[in-house]
Amino acid sequence: MLKNPQQSELMQLQPTILRFTQMLSAVLQLDAEVVDADLVRIAGTGPYSKFFGKKLNTSSRIFRYILETHQEKVVVKSRTDPLCDGCTNKGTCRETAFLGVPIMIDDRCIGVISLVAFTPESRERIKENVQLFSDYIQHISQIVVSKVQSSSEQGDGLDEVFTSLIENMDQGVLVLDGNSRVKYGNQPALNNLNINHDELSRVEVNIQPLSLHNNELKGHQQHIISLGERQELVVGQFHDARGHQLFLMAFHQPNKSFAINEPQPQFTSVIGECKKMLQLKTLISRIASSPSSVLINGESGTGKEVIAHAVHNLSTRSDQPFIAINCAAIPDQLLESELFGYVKGAFTGASNKGKTGLIQAANKGTLFLDEIGDMSMTLQAKLLRVLEEREVMPIGSSTAIPVDIRIVSATNRNFAEMIATNKFREDLYYRLNVIPINLPPLKEREGDVELLVQFFLEMHTRKIGVCYPGITTEAMARLNAYHWPGNVRELSNLIEYLVNVVPEGDLIDVDLLPPYFEQAKSEHSPETIHSDDCSMSLEEMEKIRIEEAINRLSNRKLVAEELGIGIATLYRKIKKYGLSVHNH
Ligand SMILES: Nc1ncnc2c1ncn2[C@@H]1O[C@H](COP(=O)(O)OP(=O)(O)OP(=O)(O)O)[C@@H](O)[C@H]1O
Ligand SMILES: [Mg+2]
Repeated sequence: MLKNPQQSELMQLQPTILRFTQMLSAVLQLDAEVVDADLVRIAGTGPYSKFFGKKLNTSSRIFRYILETHQEKVVVKSRTDPLCDGCTNKGTCRETAFLGVPIMIDDRCIGVISLVAFTPESRERIKENVQLFSDYIQHISQIVVSKVQSSSEQGDGLDEVFTSLIENMDQGVLVLDGNSRVKYGNQPALNNLNINHDELSRVEVNIQPLSLHNNELKGHQQHIISLGERQELVVGQFHDARGHQLFLMAFHQPNKSFAINEPQPQFTSVIGECKKMLQLKTLISRIASSPSSVLINGESGTGKEVIAHAVHNLSTRSDQPFIAINCAAIPDQLLESELFGYVKGAFTGASNKGKTGLIQAANKGTLFLDEIGDMSMTLQAKLLRVLEEREVMPIGSSTAIPVDIRIVSATNRNFAEMIATNKFREDLYYRLNVIPINLPPLKEREGDVELLVQFFLEMHTRKIGVCYPGITTEAMARLNAYHWPGNVRELSNLIEYLVNVVPEGDLIDVDLLPPYFEQAKSEHSPETIHSDDCSMSLEEMEKIRIEEAINRLSNRKLVAEELGIGIATLYRKIKKYGLSVHNH
């Protein structure tokens, strides 16, 4: 990176600090802002996600106080706090609470990282967790600063870090040489394979994927490891790191649970080995090639889209189109012309070439109707006709075109309720729900959190090009105990964040987990965590956050990205909270 001596240390690391601030804000569900010692805004979220690199002329009194005293500062009643007294901005300030922590390098304060609340609810959150939040931010900011500092001096001692990292991992790792021969295994790997160091160096070791299907995604997969005459089945994956090839083991599976002669279908992108997920995978492989409609039901973030892809990929249609459309994201009229297509001159504004609809485009393949519960009654009637007649009639045409499509749809709505209130046609529901697939929430997938953690660690480290970090047993226990209201998506977001903040060569430990994991430690009935008074306030907070992001950002995709939710979830929430959608 080219350094500009005019810029502060923090400004030179701006992209990293911004990314970190955004992730911190997402995991703590509060807005955040970072300024340097010259009061230049380095990073921020929400209303503070603009004007990076510019010197602040407002709210600088509190920042100055922190920079000068090196003390953290909490303001929960800005109208009465003496520090706010002389502030010119006092009348218009929207902040309801502020928690600022100095960023220290030895005795120097190089900037301030702050959490900001804009609603009474988030103010309460700050107020009630001041110590927890401030300790946590201090800790994380130290790590980030030292990490980014040392990254520029990197180069020496890598092998040592690399070896000690592998030694200290809870996960089994085999290191292979250029000829794909295993030259080293850490202790968990030796335990899994029931072998010692000496034996490992003597026997011929061979690692083969169980299925010959070559999947591009290269996630966890079952492998046969042959050790001389003996064979072991191990779930794991290959990974390139610093010029070595590693085989990372997910967990060890005893011999009796598999038969080599019956290769399992590929589910490399669907991670999960708990009873429910295994049953689900069996069901999917059995029904994949049937032409019958599949309806996937599951809470937000449980992987409905992942399953829809798996159904298609495992079917005989896998080399034909997979066309996905989000019924909640598109206004009714547009959805109609997208799905059915139109002939030229069909309506004012129609292209004079006409348009092929997605149903027709998906011919011989799979049409994935995401958020089907949001489809209007008019379109439901038209879709029903397609399913009954197996033909599509483009708008403005009098000729029906035969189609051979497999419909996979998904929703997190309750159909019984929608049918009872006349919001969904019962006859269409039965057509769509020939094969129901119910995805369990993550908290009901025993043992899968661990597998998903390994999977996302692998995915996110590869994405940002850092070393694969281990995770301590205690941190893993906290993740296991947590109730995951945002399901697999929430887990993926958290791991991405952790991979970014963990110092190179360190394990992910409990002190890196956001403070709300503290509760997961002792919580026995996870549902109760959010079912007290604060569930209302969380909803309210969520609404305000979404509204604010919509008004600020130019498109929905950016909003969803910033909030760390899927686009479908965003649309659902817009609907749920009755937010205005006219301005885009
Ligand atoms: N079993 C799984 N294995 C690996 N990754 C998964 C799994 N389930 C979900 N994911 C990942 O979690 C994220 C959310 O999954 P997906 O978008 O399929 O959820 P969804 O149920 O469609 O959510 P929404 O209701 O919000 O649309 C994605 O990044 C996806 O890749
Ligand atoms: Mg989805």
